[in-house]
Amino acid sequence: MPAAIRPSIKEELKDASSLCRRPKAYWGYDAAFMEACRDELTLSATDLEGGLSVGMCDGGVLSGVAQVISEGENWELEKLFVDPPAMGRGIGGQLFAWAVETVGARGGQTMHIAADPQAADFYRRMGAVDAGHISSASIPGRSLPLLCYQIADSG
Ligand SMILES: CC(C)(COP(=O)(O)OP(=O)(O)OC[C@H]1O[C@@H](n2cnc3c(N)ncnc32)[C@H](O)[C@@H]1OP(=O)(O)O)[C@@H](O)C(=O)NCCC(=O)NCCS
Repeated sequence: MPAAIRPSIKEELKDASSLCRRPKAYWGYDAAFMEACRDELTLSATDLEGGLSVGMCDGGVLSGVAQVISEGENWELEKLFVDPPAMGRGIGGQLFAWAVETVGARGGQTMHIAADPQAADFYRRMGAVDAGHISSASIPGRSLPLLCYQIADSG
């Protein structure tokens, strides 16, 4: 079965949430850190609205998850996770391209990313540029690299 990106479905919310946790843990964070991130790494029924959350199936297996969200005109890449055994095969790049296309199709001109420090170079490789730092929503006192991807020229 060829690799395909398609909207997340209710039946896979649990698997998708577990998938989000595995690549995060892959960076070597301890149990307390992972527990503090639990909410941030959990997909719920509201995440299925509007087709803004997708799963990437590779050979029939869920291998990646991505989600974009908006607050007014401000778009953010909320989730982008590739299961560790599937890393390095282009899935992250394909999910990033989906995010860019999705935001662009809805008229968004920029997409911000509060990146895990170990993923920041991946986003730079995708064409995002540094835009300062932002406080982690899950870990008090933790500062994350903020990156910005330009979808379209505003002029
Ligand atoms: C970061 C992540 C999404 C990359 O996914 P992936 O499927 O392994 O990436 P790809 O195979 O599509 O790589 C695309 C390109 O980015 C590069 N790249 C991938 N991960 C990278 C990293 N962590 N740092 C620097 N470059 C990276 C690849 O070498 C490749 O470059 P190339 O086009 O020159 O060959 C994945 O490693 C992941 O889920 N990590 C853990 C979770 C996480 O931190 N997610 C981000 C939350 S902000």
